[in-house]
Amino acid sequence: MRVFLYLLVAALVIAQFFRPTRNLGVIRSDTHISTVYPVPSQVETILEKACYDCHSNNTRYPWYARVQPLGWWLAHHVDEGKEELNFSEFTNLTPEMRAHKLAELIEQVERGEMPLRSYTRIHRNANLTQAEKETLINWARPGAAK
Ligand code: HEC
Repeated sequence: MRVFLYLLVAALVIAQFFRPTRNLGVIRSDTHISTVYPVPSQVETILEKACYDCHSNNTRYPWYARVQPLGWWLAHHVDEGKEELNFSEFTNLTPEMRAHKLAELIEQVERGEMPLRSYTRIHRNANLTQAEKETLINWARPGAAK
């Protein structure tokens, strides 16, 4: 039992040396969604507090992101989120894909699947109110219909 505990502690100590790369680029780059699709400030505020951490080129990291394996777990969400939808590189998509992503956005927000629950549990203010959901959905609708 004791040997097992020593090994566990040793593994955790060693794990601290393997830090994932951080997502610390620019949100509003020249390929940001706002360069092709207007993003009013009240929408931008919602994206900032609830979506950009996983769907842009910049994440605001909590202190525990420095602690492994939590840091790996966060990095995994960011990688996966950006792969599905990256507002900072939105214009790299074809017009069809852009419309498709905005349609997905409406669906995910309507169903309450985004932002991820594991995220809203910690970032309480990312829990969208009904009014905020409607703001996002109404914003995405014209773009999704193309
Ligand atoms: C904690 C990270 C995180 C946050 C915050 C987050 N997402 Fe996601 N999002 C993901 C991950 C991971 C996926 C892919 C896996 C999945 O669908 O669960 C995803 C998938 C999506 C998809 C699906 C794309 C597709 O083509 O299927 C959309 C749309 C989306 N997110 C929109 C949003 C919006 C809008 C917000 C803010 C209201 C948001 N997400 C907040 C992590 C996040």
